[in-house]
Amino acid sequence: MVEAVQDAGVVVTGAGGGIGAALARRFAAEGARVVVNDLDAGRAKAVADEIGGTAVPGDASAVVGEARDALGGTVDVYCANAGVGCAGSEAAEESAWALAWDVNVMAHVRAAHELLPDWLERGSGRFVSTVSAAGLLTMIGAAPYSVTKHGAYAFAEWLSLTYRHRGIKVHAICPQGVRTDMLAATGSAGDLVLRPTAIEPQDVADALFRGIEEDRFLVLPHPEVAEYYRARAADPDRWLHGMNRLQRQWEETAAR
Ligand SMILES: NC(=O)c1ccc[n+]([C@@H]2O[C@H](COP(=O)([O-])OP(=O)(O)OC[C@H]3O[C@@H](n4cnc5c(N)ncnc54)[C@H](O)[C@@H]3O)[C@@H](O)[C@H]2O)c1
Repeated sequence: MVEAVQDAGVVVTGAGGGIGAALARRFAAEGARVVVNDLDAGRAKAVADEIGGTAVPGDASAVVGEARDALGGTVDVYCANAGVGCAGSEAAEESAWALAWDVNVMAHVRAAHELLPDWLERGSGRFVSTVSAAGLLTMIGAAPYSVTKHGAYAFAEWLSLTYRHRGIKVHAICPQGVRTDMLAATGSAGDLVLRPTAIEPQDVADALFRGIEEDRFLVLPHPEVAEYYRARAADPDRWLHGMNRLQRQWEETAAR
């Protein structure tokens, strides 16, 4: 049991399935009181019923008020997990870019805006952002996803460096492939770069809990991502060359 989360009031957005459901299950197993949010009310209720939590369905951008009421006035841990896949290039529809910004970035900003006054007054609070390795590296074939996940990572980093001396803990989870509905929708690009090393949602929850215990900002369920991130920073052109090789491999597969 992790002491920091026992009896904590926890919100997990997008928790009707996939990684969010795994996070909700793990927090509940650790003795937390969990609010399960999802756009899909039926899926949110099913997970909440299973773990003895409370379902607060709806858009992840507007969940804090109702969640706080459900938890008796205080949110201790907020998991900004809901996300949208959004493949495509610079030619993706404006509406796809807008949705990606809204769910993958602005929902985090809006939640933090509502949570921080109370957290700063209490001198404690934990913000968990389910980013993606695409926020540290980049996902071929998915410009809106890659760009907005970089945004989510930047926001989590900003929160951490701004408020860590005031008792606020932030974790950025950056997995590669995880076997969920989102992975299933990634098609041939996912086949090439995600599926070969895909892990289970439960593995992501385990990695987060190691991060909480070790008080680490960056949570890497695929440890090799640290090496890729280092390589990108050390020699961007060499790294881009390697990524372009993957891109061409993907184009050849698609042409077959
Ligand atoms: N699966 C992967 O390979 C992978 C890898 C890295 C990061 N991620 C990230 O993990 C997070 C969870 O993804 P997943 O793989 O579990 O996907 P998923 O599709 O299985 O689950 C996402 C859930 O979020 C819900 N949702 C979508 N938009 C919402 C909104 N606006 N408000 C509330 N709920 C909403 C969906 O209904 C769904 O139940 C996402 O942020 C995703 O980008 C996933």
